[in-house]
Amino acid sequence: MEQLVQQINAYRQEIAVFEAATPDVVEEFRIKYLGTKGLVKMIMGEMRNVPNDRKKEFGQVLNEFKLFVESKYETLKANNSKQQTFLSGRKACLPDRQAPNDKQIDWSLPGAPISVGTRHPLSIVRNQIVSIFRRLGFAVAEGPEIEDDWHNFGAMNLPEDHPARDMQDTFYINHPAEGGAWLLRTHTSSVQARVMETQKPPIRVICPGRVYRNETISARAHCFFHQVEGLYIDENVSFADLKQTLYFFVQEMFGPAFGGIKVRFRPSYFPFTEPSAEMDISCLICGGNGCNICKHTGWVEILGSGMVHPTVLENFGIDSNKYTGFAFGMGVERITQLKYQVNDLRLYSQNDVRFLKQFTGVV
Ligand code: PHE
Repeated sequence: MEQLVQQINAYRQEIAVFEAATPDVVEEFRIKYLGTKGLVKMIMGEMRNVPNDRKKEFGQVLNEFKLFVESKYETLKANNSKQQTFLSGRKACLPDRQAPNDKQIDWSLPGAPISVGTRHPLSIVRNQIVSIFRRLGFAVAEGPEIEDDWHNFGAMNLPEDHPARDMQDTFYINHPAEGGAWLLRTHTSSVQARVMETQKPPIRVICPGRVYRNETISARAHCFFHQVEGLYIDENVSFADLKQTLYFFVQEMFGPAFGGIKVRFRPSYFPFTEPSAEMDISCLICGGNGCNICKHTGWVEILGSGMVHPTVLENFGIDSNKYTGFAFGMGVERITQLKYQVNDLRLYSQNDVRFLKQFTGVV
């Protein structure tokens, strides 16, 4: 009997220092000490061998031991479930700003995921456009978004009273400037002017950038959008070169993923090109059958283009008898819309992550 009490005390010591880092260990503890074949049950079985006159005394010892083991089990269980919430999520991780001690942390748990951002769909498409033209030998040029009247209009053959200025609702800046007024550029053609000002032919540049027009924001129009301008000036550049370059672009951009895509040129008018043409491609949304994107025509316009007007060349001292060139300007939003079937322009600038994270592009 004395021996048994001693043994129980030894167990008490062992149990007192027992620690469990995971729920599995807590369960092992329960099985070992409180299970049907556990230690407590086993010692209870010893009651049989205790002389009758000491049964009451031993019963008390046993009962105390059992309560001790049970309360230890409850403590282990409680600690462990606290630790679970503590580690199971980033938010739960620092609820009361306690510094966790090493034993509370399960270092084998994976860390909280870090979400990696994605490129904006317009950047993906702009980069794609640029990379196609770079392969044809075009260099990238950039110009300012705040322009003067001369670079945006005057140099591009739109004198002050030219009716074509009505085509582009301009945001003027209330501040005097040398070459007329300051304004937010209405097209990337202003970069053509900046390039011809500083470079001599042969010129082969592509100019991506943001442009501004005073339009009411709707699903189909925005007060700012993006263009990619192209300019090619050399001896003997012809309209055939323009067409071939743009055919190549469309094939690289949309075919063969979009299959049998058709292209057409329509005569048009721009003061800075002569002759001028707009290029349409067969509607990728409805396959040319007619939908509200192509206004039921089966065709969507993607760019304006033409042979650089001799006056524009002469404005920059380029001999228009020796040199000819072509230029084009395309809308990045429109191409992105066709590529990804985005039907509302406003989505591009609302910064809604649910929209933005759908686009994955490598360029
Ligand atoms: N600048 C014209 C626009 O914004 C597009 C264009 C560029 C047309 C170059 C012809 C040549 O609509």
